[in-house]
Amino acid sequence: MQDKIKDLNEKLAQAYLGGGEKRIEKQHANKKLTARERVQYVLDEGSFEEIGALVTHRTKDFGMDKQQFYGDGVVTGYGTIDGRLVYIFAQDFTVFGGSLSETHAEKICKIMDLAVKVGAPLIGLNDSGGARIQEGVRSLGGYADIFYRNVQASGVIPQLSAIMGPCAGGAVYSPAMTDFTLMVENTSYMFVTGPNVVKTVTNETVTSEELGGASTHASKSGVAHKTSSNDVECLEDVKKLLSYLPQNNQEKPKALPFELGDELREQLSDIVPDNANKPYDMHEVISGIIDDHSFYEIHKDHAENIIVGFARLGGKSIGIVANQPMFLAGVLDVNSSKKAARFVRFCDAFNIPLLTLEDVPGFLPGTDQEWNGIIVHGAKLLYAFSEATVPRITVITRKAYGGAYDVMNSKHIGSDMNFAWPSAEIAVMGAKGAAEIIFRKEIKDADDPEAKWKEKEAEYAEKFANPYSATERGFIDEVILPKDTRRKLIKAFAMLEDKHVDTPKRKHGNIPL
Ligand code: HXC
Repeated sequence: MQDKIKDLNEKLAQAYLGGGEKRIEKQHANKKLTARERVQYVLDEGSFEEIGALVTHRTKDFGMDKQQFYGDGVVTGYGTIDGRLVYIFAQDFTVFGGSLSETHAEKICKIMDLAVKVGAPLIGLNDSGGARIQEGVRSLGGYADIFYRNVQASGVIPQLSAIMGPCAGGAVYSPAMTDFTLMVENTSYMFVTGPNVVKTVTNETVTSEELGGASTHASKSGVAHKTSSNDVECLEDVKKLLSYLPQNNQEKPKALPFELGDELREQLSDIVPDNANKPYDMHEVISGIIDDHSFYEIHKDHAENIIVGFARLGGKSIGIVANQPMFLAGVLDVNSSKKAARFVRFCDAFNIPLLTLEDVPGFLPGTDQEWNGIIVHGAKLLYAFSEATVPRITVITRKAYGGAYDVMNSKHIGSDMNFAWPSAEIAVMGAKGAAEIIFRKEIKDADDPEAKWKEKEAEYAEKFANPYSATERGFIDEVILPKDTRRKLIKAFAMLEDKHVDTPKRKHGNIPL
């Protein structure tokens, strides 16, 4: 009996070390923590309970039976973050490149099933070369088992993926189906296939970093929602992100203690410039409204003409979607529409109220946008807002033009409260363009066409470049002073706290994908 216990302890110690000091050294030399260190770091101290530490793979081919490592390249289990239950897996690149075998997949599926049954978030720390090549279809099947579960869990529990090493194949597709993907700069990559295969197939010469590094995915592709400079920062980001989210789709996010005080924010009065063509930073509006330093931005470097992220308002978690006049005048284009649509759908799935801050001159025209499908992508955002049943509030800070007025959480598509600042301009288009179209003949026939154009522009601006005609119709509930915005929003969201909407019975809608 004593021998058996000793033997078991030795096995556990070996499993704990991920199979040996050399591999740990290698991982550290590559500026990465080991799988086990990552798990220990992200979870509350002493809270981790491992499941399946002694699992080994079952493959005999290619001499694999002589290469057995306890845990089979993935650490799985559960623990707590800030006292809240989470399920976690961390792939171990030092074991067959963290590649996924049949048994490795079974371990991940086991904790995914538990996470859904119990209703707690799933965190995946990915560091894997994808399907284990030696296992053939068994590893492909293993990935498909995970993909299937990712989809079943989608919208039920939050699923967060951290990419903490070179990830290929299934190791990128599973994260792509989770809610958020965070990447570590310089040590993590995501690609369907690496640079060597790219060279063979397309004859392109490209580095791992260019092809699928953190900055590539954070800016160009939008695959990564956030990046951080090392493993520790990435794990801190995971914890912070989780703090805005509920455990599952039946719960609301945990609120922090808050007491209503002096909520006036004078600094909001000076942000929007008098000249309607001058840009300003919508981040300043956001920070003037929300609880101090509570903004957690998603997709910061991708489609910068729209800002999305989580914040707290009066201690409660909200999702913010805001046009950014600093980039492309805050116009809606393909990427910004997709970025915002996905964020809106996440917030709606997990009971996170939505605040829209609007300053948008319209959709971006041109062949590039049309040929890339701005119609269908813009429709995604329209669809996402229209189907959202969480409390929804809009504040128009300046421009609300054309189709973009409708799309950006207008009253007509189900918004609950719509406010406008006195600087708001709500119209089909800007006064200059509008005058040119509707008074074309009059301008052309005038003795001084330029003066006539100016006169008509002023006439149109007088009528529509303000929030009052929309307010008279009830499309705007109230014109508010900027400094009053925070107070108004805290009260309005509190009023909407128990909002409930019954939707028609259907299998699912058909969002324009
Ligand atoms: C088995 C693998 C492996 C894999 C890496 N290794 N990937 N073993 N199956 N998929 C092993 C290597 O043999 C090596 O073993 C060790 O892990 C480290 O790999 P290196 O290549 O030395 O590391 P690095 O240079 O950092 O490159 C990492 C990498 C590269 C970019 C991930 O290894 C790579 O391209 N791997 C193959 C990726 C891939 O094509 N996977 C299959 C995808 S198909 P030793 O013993 O030498 O240390 C898939 C299907 C899913 O996933 C379906 C999607 C829809």
